[in-house]
Amino acid sequence: MKIAVTGAAGNIGRRLCPELAREHEVVGIDLRDADVLCDVRDFAGLLHAFAGCEAVVHLGGISNNEAPWQPIYEANIGGTYNAYEAARQCGVRQFIFASSNHAVGQYEVDFVKPEAYRGGTGFLLRDDAPLRPDGYYGVSKAFGEALGRYYSDAFGMRVACLRIGSVTATDSPEGAGATLGYLGVSREVLLERLKTTWMSHRDFQRLVSAILAHDVPYAIVYGVGDNPNRFWDLEPGRIHYGFWPLDSAVSREG
Ligand code: NAI
Repeated sequence: MKIAVTGAAGNIGRRLCPELAREHEVVGIDLRDADVLCDVRDFAGLLHAFAGCEAVVHLGGISNNEAPWQPIYEANIGGTYNAYEAARQCGVRQFIFASSNHAVGQYEVDFVKPEAYRGGTGFLLRDDAPLRPDGYYGVSKAFGEALGRYYSDAFGMRVACLRIGSVTATDSPEGAGATLGYLGVSREVLLERLKTTWMSHRDFQRLVSAILAHDVPYAIVYGVGDNPNRFWDLEPGRIHYGFWPLDSAVSREG
């Protein structure tokens, strides 16, 4: 299969592309360090880059959940439209959208932190919970999920939206990448959070491979490890794609 990956030079993309390349032809797309240098704001560039691809993994854009409106609007809303539409025009059958837990992040702000990070609250967010973004970034991910639903319904594109938790640069649940100040809690609590939200690169890659191997019109799946105190539901990934994570933040620590 020929697969285009936007955001190929990023934290997730630079590890995912070589894994996918074991079995597929991969076209990495990014602003730098990629097979094709292209800005997702450039529709014609994406149309050219996606030519002949059967699948697109759309990771490219602003990944900072505290970014202001204008860059989010341009890269994550405009750029995500460009990616879906260029994929449609190129006849791409499977689109994998890097959504985020921030599409439903307000539940965590209201109900979860910090007690749930320690377990025992019984709170579990399902894939069908009404959207509750916790910022412009989360809004852009909600937009990408809605656009994906439309492209699936209207054009028959297979779309998977991954509400990713925390896939870290070091592949460790030990804190690298945790944003100080986020959620208004201490660094210590943020580290507790990371142990509930973490997902290994290996499991992220397995999830992408599982999606590519199944014929599912549309699904929303949480990208989180088998962490004991997780508060996002892993069942949709199992039901739709037969996916269950191998790694948990606790076993990785030990
Ligand atoms: P990252 O920030 O390391 O990588 C994003 C890549 O997109 C970068 O290489 C950047 O150069 C590229 N990019 C930015 N603007 C662009 C533009 N206008 N045109 C083309 N490329 C552009 O982020 P990471 O961690 O690899 O995440 C990948 C995707 O997954 C992002 O969409 C992010 O929002 C999403 N995600 C990641 C999470 C994580 O824990 N790593 C959590 C939730 C969502």
